[in-house]
Amino acid sequence: MQEKQMNRQEQRSPHQDHILVVDDEKSIRDILCEVIQYEGYRCSVAGNGKEALTVMEQEPVDVVITDIMMPHMDGMELTRIIRGKYDTDVIMMTGFVKNFTYESIIDLGVSDFMQKPVGIKELIIRLKRVLRERTILREQKIFEEQLKASMENLRKAIGGTIQTLALTVETRDPYTAGHQKRVADLAWAIACEIGLPAEQVDGIRMAGAIHDIGKISVPAEILSKPTKLTEIEFSLIKTHAQSGYDILKDIEFPWPIARIILEHHERMDGSGYPNGLIGKDTLIESKILAVADVVEAIASHRPYRPALGLDHALEIISNGSGTPYDANVVDTCLKLFREKDFYFI
Ligand SMILES: [Fe+2]
Repeated sequence: MQEKQMNRQEQRSPHQDHILVVDDEKSIRDILCEVIQYEGYRCSVAGNGKEALTVMEQEPVDVVITDIMMPHMDGMELTRIIRGKYDTDVIMMTGFVKNFTYESIIDLGVSDFMQKPVGIKELIIRLKRVLRERTILREQKIFEEQLKASMENLRKAIGGTIQTLALTVETRDPYTAGHQKRVADLAWAIACEIGLPAEQVDGIRMAGAIHDIGKISVPAEILSKPTKLTEIEFSLIKTHAQSGYDILKDIEFPWPIARIILEHHERMDGSGYPNGLIGKDTLIESKILAVADVVEAIASHRPYRPALGLDHALEIISNGSGTPYDANVVDTCLKLFREKDFYFI
């Protein structure tokens, strides 16, 4: 009989799938196993739940076809263990259905259920369906993992590009070197503390790292002028928000980076630039970046003035809580410095 099975199996293209038939009646498990092997699958047998688990510890099993009523460990207990420990589907078969409700069997997580006497053709059809679903799920999982990996690579590439852009701006404007990074760090910390979703937090950090990219269109001598700026010079500096937007607006980042940069000098009361937008018309990311930018700029040295210090910066935003700065963002920023030991690196 064994020889006959092997010959039949060799005639057909063998599948990788491994099926385990569990039944305390030897004649039933042998005949089911022979049919399954005839279909080209690998098949093992066990006389009860305990024996089945021994087989499963030795090699992976794709589908267990199990009886319910068996000595030592019944099919219900076996299924509970399989569903908790293995990535294996279960097809259950029994002749004593009155002892179990259909719901209790389904609740165990079985993939299919058959009443004895089991029709061979039907069993094979159901087995193939379960295996097909496993293949689809497996392919879906591989696809999702590949997609996740490509997204991760893409994000790394975007992060690298953004760092390069940041360095380009700072090369022309050495007095603000490090400003963008420190603003990005503070904006990121505020966004995390507020509890924004990870996606938004990432976007804020990226936008912060290049928020002054528009200064590339401002003459370098104005950026590094060691005395107070004239009104015309200041109006030229103010174009950097719109310029930054124009540079980035056609790049399809996974975050609204161009818009955050456009809005980072807007204020809650409409007193900001370039468009004089009020709070409800700007993104939360822009409001966070605005506060982080002001705090870092006041606290640090500028070409036209020495550093005014962190305490002064915090006082300015505290006085401007609600107008012109978002109150929640201000509160969170103050909390970070005063209670959570945040500091600029
Ligand atoms: Fe700016």
